[in-house]
Amino acid sequence: MRLAVKPADPIMWKPSQRIRYKAAPGEWPSTTEAANSALFSPLAYQALELESRTWVPAMVPWRATDSGFVTADNLDWYGRFARGRPAALVVEATGIRDIASGPLLRVSNDRFIPGLKELVAKVRNASSGQTRLFIQLIDFLPVRRRPASETYFQRYLEITDRHRDALNAGGWPEHELREALARLPVEELDSVLTPRELESLRMGYRERVTDTHLPQISELPEILPALFSQAAERAQQAGFDGVELHYAHAYTMASFLSATNNRDDGYGGTLRQRLRLPLEVYTAVRKSVGSDFAVGCRFLTEDCIDAGSTLADGSFFGQEFAAAGMDFISVSRGGKFDDARQPRVGEAAYPYTGRSGYECIPGYISDDFGPFGRNVEPASRVRAAIRKGDLETPVVVTGGIHGFHQAEALLDSGRADVIGMARQSLADPDWFRKVRVGQGRSVRVCEYTNYCEGLDRKHKQVTCQLWDRTGLDEPGISRSRDNKRRLVAPD
Ligand SMILES: Cc1cc2nc3c(=O)[nH]c(=O)nc-3n(C[C@H](O)[C@H](O)[C@H](O)COP(=O)(O)O)c2cc1C
Ligand code: SF4
Repeated sequence: MRLAVKPADPIMWKPSQRIRYKAAPGEWPSTTEAANSALFSPLAYQALELESRTWVPAMVPWRATDSGFVTADNLDWYGRFARGRPAALVVEATGIRDIASGPLLRVSNDRFIPGLKELVAKVRNASSGQTRLFIQLIDFLPVRRRPASETYFQRYLEITDRHRDALNAGGWPEHELREALARLPVEELDSVLTPRELESLRMGYRERVTDTHLPQISELPEILPALFSQAAERAQQAGFDGVELHYAHAYTMASFLSATNNRDDGYGGTLRQRLRLPLEVYTAVRKSVGSDFAVGCRFLTEDCIDAGSTLADGSFFGQEFAAAGMDFISVSRGGKFDDARQPRVGEAAYPYTGRSGYECIPGYISDDFGPFGRNVEPASRVRAAIRKGDLETPVVVTGGIHGFHQAEALLDSGRADVIGMARQSLADPDWFRKVRVGQGRSVRVCEYTNYCEGLDRKHKQVTCQLWDRTGLDEPGISRSRDNKRRLVAPD
């Protein structure tokens, strides 16, 4: 449904058509219709066994301790999703390296196993064992906050001959040269600084997989297979049903797959070489966890950036992942740093602020196509490519799906095998249980306002605006750090 327009937001990219949409879930099924539906029918493929085709994709809630341990708030968050009984629940992107990364979960050392075991137990109890639990394994490269201009010139810029030549400053002491650079008008900086220096000044310093002059980047193909496989083993020890390798969005593995990866060490350039490390990581993971433990990945049907990977590339990757033996493939779109908007000073670039970010987490202000099901056609093309190779690997599609018939049509027409709902599950974690028992009318329908994503961007505990101020005085409610919001959906 279309509504009127709203003014532009300087931080987030929005389609220029600026048409406002309202989610329209349509009719809800009776208990019998639900029982006979494709959505609530089981699925079994290799190590993946689901009691229905429903899936809650990974969503970072910013609830771990600063050292990456599971907290009581994490247990509440995942327990709340599990009470809604989706067939599968994917735990947020969880770090595989033993480095400080703020309140995001980590599985980078055995010390994290006890907390993760508690999380598994919580989900088993809350879903009476019905929800299969996977954990998303992520590697990411350093991204620094945007510095104040003076700080950048005083501290971060590495002075080179290029800077001295540009200012005719051959014999100047370094501090004078830095001060002179800091005083240059913005237009002149374009010719004095390199494109990467300009990026560090305007967006904050960010490492790329193509920075092979840096030893820690050139050695990624040597270290990542072991880091991922050790993390997967820990997840197995903690009792998870499987792992989802994070090969999507703005992070290391997606950057290897991207057409922007021009590494010349055999891990970039051609499609096959870009795929090489993701396949090596998968092989190492499979070797360490065996064939009874589900291993799949999340990757992009398309990068949605200039010179990025296309749907043809995504279809090829899907075929190859399926042929390598993955138990499932979950597809997303976009979400890259390459076209992210400039962050405010002191904030880090956020990969969901540009056009590719819009394609990944589309909000209700949209174009002619609208925010619902933007990844359906690309996902169905990837699935068709996999089926062409005579493989039945299940494909999970996500993006603006919130209605029963919408989901059912995707399954019936063979465009996907499993339906992911991220924000709709956050808006109402009971969607699955309610719809199954003929109570669809009481579903709290997501409005796709991206209030939750805004909290993620600010690294604040993620909640939903449809319920986070409700029943704040109920006993035993845990609240956000500012005490203003409840942290999980009311029953
Ligand atoms: C707050 C928030 C956190 C997210 N965190 C992750 C994540 O950790 N890993 C991931 O692959 N996708 C993440 N996503 C993307 C979602 O999984 C999903 O692909 C996206 O929201 C589009 O699906 P939807 O329309 O059903 O919400 C996140 C999305 C939101 C809104
Ligand atoms: S805040 Fe709630 S309603 Fe808004 S997009 Fe997020 S989940 Fe949907």
